[in-house]
Amino acid sequence: MDYKKYITDLIDIGGVSKEELYDLIALPPNAEMGDYALPCFKFAKLLRKSPVIIAEELKNSIMSGRIPMSDKVISEVSAINGYLNFKVNKGDLVRSTLDKILNEGDKFGASSEGEGKTVCIDYSSINIAKPFHIGHLSTTVLGGALYRIFNYLGYKAVGINHLGDYGTQFGKLISAYKRWGVKEEIEKGGIRALNELYVKFHQEAEMHPEYDDEARAYFKAIEQGDEECLALFHWFKELTLKDVQKIYDMLDIHFDSYAGESFFADKMQPIVDELREKGLLVESRGAQVVDLEEYNMAPCMILKSDGTSLYATRDMAAATYRKTTYDFYKCLYVVAYQQNLHFKQFFKVLELMGKDWAKDLVHVAYGMVSLEEGTMSTRKGNVVFLEDVINKCIEKAYAILNEKNPDLENKQDVAQKVGVGAVIFGALYNSKIKDIVFSYDKVLNFDGETSVYVQYTCARANSVIHKGGVPTEYTIPELTAEEIELVKGLATFPEAVQNAAEKYEPSFIARFAVDVSQKFNKFYFNCKILAAETEEIKNFRLTLTNATLQVLKNAFGLLGIGIPDKM
Ligand code: ARG
Repeated sequence: MDYKKYITDLIDIGGVSKEELYDLIALPPNAEMGDYALPCFKFAKLLRKSPVIIAEELKNSIMSGRIPMSDKVISEVSAINGYLNFKVNKGDLVRSTLDKILNEGDKFGASSEGEGKTVCIDYSSINIAKPFHIGHLSTTVLGGALYRIFNYLGYKAVGINHLGDYGTQFGKLISAYKRWGVKEEIEKGGIRALNELYVKFHQEAEMHPEYDDEARAYFKAIEQGDEECLALFHWFKELTLKDVQKIYDMLDIHFDSYAGESFFADKMQPIVDELREKGLLVESRGAQVVDLEEYNMAPCMILKSDGTSLYATRDMAAATYRKTTYDFYKCLYVVAYQQNLHFKQFFKVLELMGKDWAKDLVHVAYGMVSLEEGTMSTRKGNVVFLEDVINKCIEKAYAILNEKNPDLENKQDVAQKVGVGAVIFGALYNSKIKDIVFSYDKVLNFDGETSVYVQYTCARANSVIHKGGVPTEYTIPELTAEEIELVKGLATFPEAVQNAAEKYEPSFIARFAVDVSQKFNKFYFNCKILAAETEEIKNFRLTLTNATLQVLKNAFGLLGIGIPDKM
């Protein structure tokens, strides 16, 4: 039962669409007022009446039956201070919500609205031979969550790791490897060993500028298909991907394509030709650029003075390739806001070329993540590897669990789910554009707005169900406020998923999970479940507990966070 929809159908305001009404209807903080409320302030200008009068008139028109109302669903309508308030029939609300959750199970919250539509998601998009550091956390887990969310809503999500595998740094790496590298050590050390070589190159090149020339020559050799250089390049790539796969496995991250920048190296000529044909290219200090002054942006660089391509050119080739290959409905780029200008520029250039699909490209920008201990620079080598952050979180989780519950079975397993979950949740809980300072203590706080709080709530629910069983049938007893609040919270899950997809904001789901956990815990502490007054109440409460667990599992499944049975 979609109550907001039901209420929307009861209200008729000329000049206001049903969608608008739907979005305005909110859950009042105080349940005494009503279960749903429509604030009427926005209509004052349109109707030239005060919100108080509008609410009063809407109430009267509903009550007078001019608009048919079945008293079974809505039990009371009132107008207070410019709000039109609705109380719903609680038995109905609870029955329809619980039945829906239990019938749909792990599909509760899913839909088929996206059927036939493909959403490309460019995320993680790591740079070969460079550390996978804490800065890559957000793009990886935000993208991973959006990937699951869109699939859940019936879209076909295509996960793309647009590898940074093109540029002079690979020439530098070959130069460094040939001078100082030891095959076995690199093989063993993976990205870290490669990064050390890279750092050493930069230190040494300060005294030996000729190394830079050599690096440029090696990069050219890669481009020209020199066998030895190409083999080394592929080896670096292989080592990097093998290394990051460990992290992707821990975070439950998957990709359908690894077509990175080098894949597009030979697909840019048509773009450059088309730009030239359409008269969009102009020369600027030897380089070829598209002038964007009219749009208040710096020019978009297409070709450098030496004729080599640029990041934006490769991205334009990639976007074009994605359109032809996947015929996307939307193409998302989950990339830090530092690259705002880059995306605005090449989206605009594609638009100027007359690509009508340029409007379907979306830069899903997010803020910076730093550690309390401070950030890093790849060149100097003092980076914080994401793998170390995850492992440290798992270790800390283990220590906490060990202290709280020394007899816990599968402690290592549970610590893994708690630790990894804390890292993911830490990056997903806040609105994505905010900068985050990652703190181990904060993300592992059992009483905070954290994943471990939600996981612990689930363990609590699990233990109740383990003892009491899941009833096959239930009836609705006289309801307590805690029970009603919890059910009302559960009922908002489909909307949270919708909002997360619409705003590219998995935090809606993370917040939902914390909110429902808080409501469950209020219910748990104030209403006896196993020792309930009657068998009817006990059955009902067990059913409610079971439904809560189901919904929290669905929510955490979308975020990529596991839920241990016991904690
Ligand atoms: N590799 C780039 C970086 O680390 C991110 C690539 C994002 N995707 C894209 N299509 N530009 O900055």
